[in-house]
Amino acid sequence: MTPRFSFSLHMTDGKARSGIISTPRGEIRTPAFMPVGTAATVKAMMPESVRATGADVLLGNTYHLMLRPTAERIDRLGGLHKFMNWERPILTDSGGFQVMSLAELRKLTEEGVSFRSHIDGSKHMLTPERSMEIQRLLGSDIVMCFDECPALPASHERIAESMRLSMRWAARSRDAFGDRPGHALFGIQQGGDEEDLRGESAEALRAIGFDGYAVGGLAVGEGQEVMFQVLDYAPDMLPADKPRYLMGVGKPDDIVGAVKRGIDMMDCVLPSRSGRTGQAFTRRGVVNIKNARHQEDPRPLDEGCSCPACRNYSRAYLHHVFRAQEIISSMLLTWHNLHYYQELMQGMREAIAEGRFAAWESTFHAERARGDI
Ligand code: GUN
Ligand code: ZN
Repeated sequence: MTPRFSFSLHMTDGKARSGIISTPRGEIRTPAFMPVGTAATVKAMMPESVRATGADVLLGNTYHLMLRPTAERIDRLGGLHKFMNWERPILTDSGGFQVMSLAELRKLTEEGVSFRSHIDGSKHMLTPERSMEIQRLLGSDIVMCFDECPALPASHERIAESMRLSMRWAARSRDAFGDRPGHALFGIQQGGDEEDLRGESAEALRAIGFDGYAVGGLAVGEGQEVMFQVLDYAPDMLPADKPRYLMGVGKPDDIVGAVKRGIDMMDCVLPSRSGRTGQAFTRRGVVNIKNARHQEDPRPLDEGCSCPACRNYSRAYLHHVFRAQEIISSMLLTWHNLHYYQELMQGMREAIAEGRFAAWESTFHAERARGDI
């Protein structure tokens, strides 16, 4: 029998939850952070190194891969897992969100969205049906519904129209996805910062029925305070026995606040992208390695970190290779940042399992308040 996709909730502490998502390609410990591997690579990292940081699952992007090298080519080469040498679970985003932020000459209709590639200007069309087909060709384990959303702030009417279109697309995504044992389809709640629309969206998704539910349409310009206000009610509207995924979030304190409010999964480019721009996340906050104060500092980036960048190199070295634009700078800082994010998740999972999340959270904020030495 093909092993099925399932979610088992082990412990709750307040609204925070810990559990395990089981897939035929392996388990995902939740709360989970998913490193972003947009173009079939987590930039500057070998897949075995990504795994060594503690990642159970990666995120891939329909939009980028359909344009280059195309889903059909990846399929002919044996699927995305084989292509990029990552045999564990992969979640793929559905493309609409990326079209709206990256593509040129976008045109949104009931049918879907037509656009020109940001790479070569070629013309393309994405619909719920085509997005499901691409994610199937890629071999994605967790497929996201095709959706779209406005940047915030936006009017109630604008958010309502967009959410209702996304809910019609969610029904079409469900139909097109069909029955694929071992593969999951997640719905995406929209509704911006409007509580009534979040409720309407959750109802529409629950009526269709999904293997998991994402909170979409956040981290689109509203700021942390508004995002947390929405997260105070939005996750509670989604089924408690299914995973809840907050899309595109975020900074370490965003992630902690989201887990506190009942989120199980997250993804963000921040740890990998910041690694390439010289920003390191540590328990004492963000360290800018390009700062001259590091130029002769023999200490590691973070005394308490066991990643290769901290075990084997000084701040002076990391500063030097960043200034000299050496490739190893991106490699080491990305490794450190991904390691930091995964340790953060592990710390929360253990705290939730042991019923001490509130104390863990106080320590998290206190250490950051002390700042980098
Ligand atoms: N990534 C960040 N936010 C979103 C969203 O609302 N929808 C999708 N599909 N991807 C996202
Ligand atoms: Zn480190």
